[in-house]
Amino acid sequence: MKGIVLAGGSGSRLQPVTRAVSKQLLPVYDKPMIYYPISVLMLAGIRDIMIITTPTDMPAFERLLGDGSEWGLRFTYAEQTHPNGLAEAFLLGADHVGDDSVALVLGDNIFHGQGFSSLLCRAVDEVESGSGAILFGYPVRDPGRYGVGETDAAGRLVSIEEKPMRPKSSRAITGLYLYDNDVLALARQLTPSARGELEITDLNRAYIRRGTARVIDLDRGYAWLDTGTHDSLVEASQYVQLLEHRQGVRFACIEEIAMLQGWLSPEHALGQVHANSGYGDYVIEVATRAGRAAQVAPDPVPERERRDRVGPVRGA
Ligand code: TTP
Repeated sequence: MKGIVLAGGSGSRLQPVTRAVSKQLLPVYDKPMIYYPISVLMLAGIRDIMIITTPTDMPAFERLLGDGSEWGLRFTYAEQTHPNGLAEAFLLGADHVGDDSVALVLGDNIFHGQGFSSLLCRAVDEVESGSGAILFGYPVRDPGRYGVGETDAAGRLVSIEEKPMRPKSSRAITGLYLYDNDVLALARQLTPSARGELEITDLNRAYIRRGTARVIDLDRGYAWLDTGTHDSLVEASQYVQLLEHRQGVRFACIEEIAMLQGWLSPEHALGQVHANSGYGDYVIEVATRAGRAAQVAPDPVPERERRDRVGPVRGA
């Protein structure tokens, strides 16, 4: 499965901060916002990732992330010249996706919870071995601000409404979407909505009509955080700070996830990390520990076990 992080948009709710800096490069406590959605794709086992952003902001993303080889990943980039809607990702990313399935994650969405990695890997397996779409639902107090999904007893999505006045459920559809390869052809058939965007909701409706859209509900054990306003950005930072201080581990540390996935050796991590920041010191600490453990137990960790370790211990 290929990955896409959609990191364009106008960030109008965060003006004037976003006049000079892309929203997805702003810090959420100790790391740039885009680390969080990238870590979600990594936890799902995805290494080949396209970053879609504005022509103005692209050089800054390239400075931050390069070609991804630093983490054993592959990053490619595409420009979205105007915020023409989320579904445009599948037109801009068609060559990147090729014949594969794809996971799209919005660049300003943060997910965290126990066992998230295992849940993601099962969902990826399901899409790769079958067909259709998998979306993730999350109960919210104010569903009218989001896309709201209704499911049948089997978890199949039967309707989806964008920002409804009278929501049929409290289940918001989050910014993480897994699709089979048909998404490319379906996206080509879309026409802009009344607000002039290619809507992801219309894409999801196409899968509903086929009876192949499913929803996995993230229960209250998970956090799904929004970072689009000044308040929600501060709250997300405080959430990350509180958990990291309390637990002594960091989440969405992409070096750590790359090491746990076996994509980055502790030696490489140590060779390229910048000390002198809390984040850098943490990478040094986990890489040193992993290096010692590798000397004691040279057998590679089986993949299943590694997923389970990443999930319960750290989530995303
Ligand atoms: P939004 O939060 O809907 O929009 P925005 O980021 O432009 O912010 P604002 O509402 O304050 O103006 O977008 C959700 C995510 O999707 C965000 O990461 C930006 C991204 N996005 C794109 O990359 N391209 C688009 O065409 C749209 C609509 C959003």
